[in-house]
Amino acid sequence: MPAMYDRFAPFYELEYGHKKDDVDFYLNIVGRYGSPVLEIGVGTGRIALSLAAQGHEVCGVDNSAPMLQIARDKVRRMDSETRKRLTLRRADMRRLRFRDAFRTAIIPFRAFLHNLSQQEQMQTLNGLHRALRPRGVLALDLFVPLYQVLARTTWQVEIPEEDLAPGVTIASSVRHTPAEQRLDIENRYHQSNRIRRAQMTYRYIFRYEMEALLRAAGFKAISCLNGFNGKPYDFFSGLMIFIARKQ
Ligand SMILES: C[S@@+](CC[C@H](N)C(=O)[O-])C[C@H]1O[C@@H](n2cnc3c(N)ncnc32)[C@H](O)[C@@H]1O
Repeated sequence: MPAMYDRFAPFYELEYGHKKDDVDFYLNIVGRYGSPVLEIGVGTGRIALSLAAQGHEVCGVDNSAPMLQIARDKVRRMDSETRKRLTLRRADMRRLRFRDAFRTAIIPFRAFLHNLSQQEQMQTLNGLHRALRPRGVLALDLFVPLYQVLARTTWQVEIPEEDLAPGVTIASSVRHTPAEQRLDIENRYHQSNRIRRAQMTYRYIFRYEMEALLRAAGFKAISCLNGFNGKPYDFFSGLMIFIARKQ
């Protein structure tokens, strides 16, 4: 069955390949809590490759074969020592099978929000709890459902070619279903008179909802931050980062 990001993969690097604001944050987290590290939703390897290059043993998991293929192409260009430290696996975060294997687990760039029900959220967190060694640490970032998101049920966003690449533009339509905390997004990629479509869904989460989920899975929150600067959560930054320890 195709995975959610399969159709995004050809455009992912154009849209997010340059994103750097979170890389040092996750390098610091892993530097502090240790490797081996499990990265969930590793995608094109944006963060995993930096972790491996810094000497960490990394296992990256993703359920999209085309996203993993881009990561593998990048890994092939790395030196052999770095390559040895990095394992990429195609798997679903809701069905992890690791046991006591990792010191740290990370879920960067809101990949956790692709769990679309409480059952899926708990399956993922329970799998991570099993995957971590005793007192292992989980770190993840989410977007905050800001007022302007909550106030609307449909909206459009356009990304012009000067922000992407010559001849490529993206137009997104978002449908918000507040009762399900659900955002259904359709991206239309325009390139050389062709239009390609890709759909994805997020289920957004509030601060104390996330803390309750972490507790229910056997984690204790160490901190909730408002961004990669390490300041305490204040809602308005639009970012919510959790660092939690396996109990
Ligand atoms: C926003 S991207 C983040 C990619 C990468 N971590 C980064 O920061 O650039 C989310 C990733 O989560 C993956 N993903 C979504 N649902 C998943 C699932 N159920 N199991 C594993 N990976 C999943 C997608 O394929 C995608 O690569």
